[in-house]
Amino acid sequence: MYAIWSSVMRTSERYEGNPVAKHLVIESMQQRSFERWLASFDETCGELFDDRLSKAFCVKAAHIVKSLKLALFYRPDQNGHLSQQYDLRRHRQLHQM
Ligand code: HEM
Repeated sequence: MYAIWSSVMRTSERYEGNPVAKHLVIESMQQRSFERWLASFDETCGELFDDRLSKAFCVKAAHIVKSLKLALFYRPDQNGHLSQQYDLRRHRQLHQM
């Protein structure tokens, strides 16, 4: 987590992982899990940092959450709507994993 936030906030390129792949295999993941994550991240930043820094973290976090949600829940077969619940079995079928 240090590496990713260093990469995001300081463009240090320390993080070399694949967060989409890591989160894809968590079966119980839902869109609202990410909304809860973001709310508690925002709250924590507000406690730890001044307004300017807190805002800078939250803007980045919101972008990452948006990308992760698209990667996990985007359904091209349903006019591009996002599904609420991630379907790992279906994903594996589609990608023959
Ligand atoms: C409710 C939402 C989330 C849940 C339940 C969750 C859960 C997890 C879990 C279980 C892992 C460990 C995976 C593994 O090592 O196999 C992980 C890793 C990680 N998560 Fe999340 N996560 C959430 C949201 C996020 C968000 C929003 C971010 C980015 C801001 C994030 C960034 C990461 C990173 C960078 C790793 C390490 C990946 C690696 O080892 O390369 N997570 N998460």
